[in-house]
Amino acid sequence: MTDAAPKPLLRVLGGEVLDPPPWWLMRQAGRYLPEYRALRAKAADFVALCLNPALAAEVTLQPIRRFGMDAAILFSDILLVPRALGQPLGFRDDGPALEPIGDAGALARLNAGEVGSRLAPVFEAAARVKEALPPATALIGFAGAPWTVASYMVEGGTSRDFVRVKGWAYADPEGFSRLIELIETATITFLAGQVAAGVEVVQLFDSWAGILPEPQFARWVIAPTQRIVAALKTRFPTVPVIGFPRGAGLLYERYAVETGVDGLGLDTVVPLGFARTRLQNRLPVQGNLDPAVLRVGGAALAGAVADLRRELGGGPHILNLGHGVLPDTPPDNVALLSRLITESRVPV
Ligand code: CP3
Repeated sequence: MTDAAPKPLLRVLGGEVLDPPPWWLMRQAGRYLPEYRALRAKAADFVALCLNPALAAEVTLQPIRRFGMDAAILFSDILLVPRALGQPLGFRDDGPALEPIGDAGALARLNAGEVGSRLAPVFEAAARVKEALPPATALIGFAGAPWTVASYMVEGGTSRDFVRVKGWAYADPEGFSRLIELIETATITFLAGQVAAGVEVVQLFDSWAGILPEPQFARWVIAPTQRIVAALKTRFPTVPVIGFPRGAGLLYERYAVETGVDGLGLDTVVPLGFARTRLQNRLPVQGNLDPAVLRVGGAALAGAVADLRRELGGGPHILNLGHGVLPDTPPDNVALLSRLITESRVPV
C-alpha cells in the first residue's frame, strides 16, 4: 500500500483539529466483549494469549471490526517487560502476581539481554495486525513507564499503599535508580521492536504516576520518560509518543513541558477547563470520559460526550476514556459512543 491521506489519529497528534475527533478506548479489547472471552478460553492463560501472535492479533482486531475505532491498540501487557527481564509473572483472579524484587541481589538476577527475543511474539502480532487494518486506522503500541512497572516488580502485584516501592526509592535512591534504568533499557527495546514491526504511535502508561510528591515525580516519572522519548526520537523521529501519567494532577503541566511527549493522555479527574487552558495549548490531548459513564450509557453518556467535545473540541483532541473500559460495560454502549462521535459535530 502506498501512503494515502494521513490517518486521523496521526493528524491530531501532529496538531490538527478534527471534527469529529478520532477516537479509541483504553482496554478496548477485553472481557466486556463476548468474542474476547471466547478466544481467551482457547489460550492456556493470559500471558499465553499475549504471546500467541495469531490470537493476540485477532483480539486486537475484534473491537475495530465491531465499532470502527480510529486506532487499534496492540493486545499485550505492560508486565511482559518484567517477565522478559527474568521475573516470573502469573495472573490470578485478583490481578497480576510477581515474585517481588526488593534489593540489589534480586536485581542482579535480572537482565535486559534477552528482552528483544523474548518479546518477539508481540512484534509478530503487531506485524499481523498492521497487514489486516483498514487503511485509515492507526496502530498503537505501548509499554508501562518505568515507575509503574517498578511498582509492580517491587510490590509483587497491585498495591494499596506502595510502601515497598516508595520505601526503596526513599531509602536507597541510587540502588532504586538501577532498577529504573534496567526497565528503561528494556522498554526502549520493547517499543523499538513494536515500531519496527509497524506500530505508528506508542503510548507510555504511567498508571501510578499520581502517588509521588513533586521531587520524586521529577526523578522517577519525568526523567525516565524523557530519556525513553529521546531514545525513540533518535531512532524514529516521526513516531509520536503519547504519555499517560494517570493521577498527576497539577504535575500534568510539568510532565507536558519536560518529557518531550507528543500527546497527553488525560485521566478521568483532570478538569476540562484546566486541560484546555494549561495543557491543550501545549500539546494534543487524549481522554477523558469516565469509564463509569460509558458503563451506564444512555443520556448520561450523551451528556458527558457533549461536554467533552464542547470543552476540548476547539483544539487537537483524541476522544478516549480516562482509564480502561470496565469489564461489565455493555458493548451496545460502545456502539452508542461511536454514533455520538461520528454522527454529529461539536455541540455549540
Ligand atoms: O488497551 C487495550 O485494549 C490493550 C491491552 C492492554 C492490557 N493491559 C490487556 C489486559 C493494555 C494497554 C494494558 C495495560 C496495563 N496492564 C496497565 C496500564 C493501564 C492501567 O490499567 O492502568 C496495567 C497497570 C497493566 C497490568 C495488568 N494487566 C493488571 C493490573 C491486570 C489485572 C487487572 C485487570 O484489569 O484485569 C492485567 C490483566 C489484563 N491486561 C487483562 C487485559 C485484557 C485482563 C486479563 C484477562 O483476560 O483475564
